[in-house]
Amino acid sequence: MPKEETARVIFSFANSNTFTIPPIRETLLKFIVEGLWLDPFANNMNIKEDLPDEVNYVTNDLNPKFNTTYNEPQEIFLARHVGKNVMGIVVDPPYSISKTKRLYDSIGIIPDGWKGHDLYHTARKYARMIRPLYYIQLGWNSNGPGKKLFQKIDHLLVPHGSSRNDTIMTVWKLKKP
Ligand SMILES: C[S@@+](CC[C@H](N)C(=O)[O-])C[C@H]1O[C@@H](n2cnc3c(N)ncnc32)[C@H](O)[C@@H]1O
Repeated sequence: MPKEETARVIFSFANSNTFTIPPIRETLLKFIVEGLWLDPFANNMNIKEDLPDEVNYVTNDLNPKFNTTYNEPQEIFLARHVGKNVMGIVVDPPYSISKTKRLYDSIGIIPDGWKGHDLYHTARKYARMIRPLYYIQLGWNSNGPGKKLFQKIDHLLVPHGSSRNDTIMTVWKLKKP
C-alpha cells in the first residue's frame, strides 16, 4: 500500500506576491518568529513589515528594482550563508516561464532557456549545506530538500479557482539540529 499523506486545503485568491495570500502569510508568520532567515527570491519583501523584532530577515532578489539586502543570483546569496547559524530559508522562485515574463520582468530567463527547475535544485543543494532548522517552499511541487536530512511538518494546498494552478506550500524541519 502506498503511504498516504494529508494536506491542509484552503481556498484563496491568487496573487503574484505569494506572501500576501492569507493562508500562506499566516503559515509563514507561525514559523518565522526568531533568528536569521534567508529569502533568496524576496521581490518587494512585503512579509518583513509583520515580522517580530527577534527575526533577522535577510532578503535578496536578482531584479535590481527591488531594494533587497542583496541583488544577486540566489546561489551567490545562499553561498554567503554557508557555515552560519540559519533558522530558516524561504524559497519562492518564479513558477513558470509565462509567469516570469508576465509578472517578474522576465528575470530568470536566460538567453538559451528557462532556469525555473534549476532554481529549486540549487536552493535545495544549498539547504543541505546550510542546514537551517526550517526550509519553507512555495510552488507547484511538494518536493523538499531531501528526506534524509529534513522531515515534512506542514503541507498546505491553496486552490485559486478557475483554471489556475494551486499553490503548494511545504514546511520542512531539520531532523538532527
Ligand atoms: C514568485 S516571486 C517572489 C514573490 C515574493 N515571495 C512575494 O511574496 O512577493 C520570484 C522572484 O524571484 C526573482 N528571481 C528570479 N530568478 C532569480 C534568481 N536566479 N535569483 C534571485 N532572484 C530571482 C524574481 O525577480 C522575482 O521577484
